[in-house]
Amino acid sequence: MIALEALSRVYRSDEVETTALNDIDLEIATGEFVAIMGPSGCGKSTLLNLLGTIDRATSGRYLFEGEDITRRDEAALARLRRDRLGFVFQSFNLIDDLTIEENVALGLAYRPGTGRRGAVAAAMDRVAIGHRARHFPHQLSGGQQQRAAIARAIVGEPQLILADEPTGNLDSENGGQVMDILGELNREGATVIMVTHSPAHADRARRVVHMLDGRIALSAQRAAA
Ligand SMILES: Nc1ncnc2c1ncn2[C@@H]1O[C@H](COP(=O)(O)OP(=O)(O)O)[C@@H](O)[C@H]1O
Ligand SMILES: [Mg+2]
Repeated sequence: MIALEALSRVYRSDEVETTALNDIDLEIATGEFVAIMGPSGCGKSTLLNLLGTIDRATSGRYLFEGEDITRRDEAALARLRRDRLGFVFQSFNLIDDLTIEENVALGLAYRPGTGRRGAVAAAMDRVAIGHRARHFPHQLSGGQQQRAAIARAIVGEPQLILADEPTGNLDSENGGQVMDILGELNREGATVIMVTHSPAHADRARRVVHMLDGRIALSAQRAAA
């Protein structure tokens, strides 16, 4: 599904240059569940943002389904994100003054209207948040908010789910529920790439990619459970 070739991302400000990703080669096949681990600042979020096309490489190539999308224009990348990708963040990123239902519908932004309501309801039921459809984010627990954010990510039935520390703000019970949902989505065919600091949660993935200083230090395939 994905191939990164000699991918680098350098942040430049007035005086300082930070190499967040340094010459990354990485392949991810359709249907994989990959955990990305490594110390704070090693480039995990930068890598996930590049995979999600919300950031661009400084050099190197990004192939998605065999197509070089490294220099695609922003409109084409926006379509790719809308049609094929789902994002989950550590801090949920729900919009405070929209209801849960309206937040989930954002995951269908700009798609034709038919079937929208049914898709939104199905996504909410999927993560057991349907009974909170008319609530606002602040009326929900952290675990419920993250489940709503997952509903928003999956309502468009993405092929690839990118999750940046999705359990980082949750207690172990709610974190476990989020991991159960991600595992289930993966078993149903979605490719999942997840950043985590939790060894227990990384254990759910079939492959763990360890990063250090902008490089991939180790990519370890796990035996089938
Ligand atoms: N917008 C930015 N401008 C400058 N430097 C950045 C920016 N975002 C991240 N960095 C730097 O890039 C490196 C990798 O950051 P990040 O990918 O967020 O790490 P991680 O997610 O592993 O904690 C860090 O040194 C960080 O300070
Ligand atoms: Mg990060």
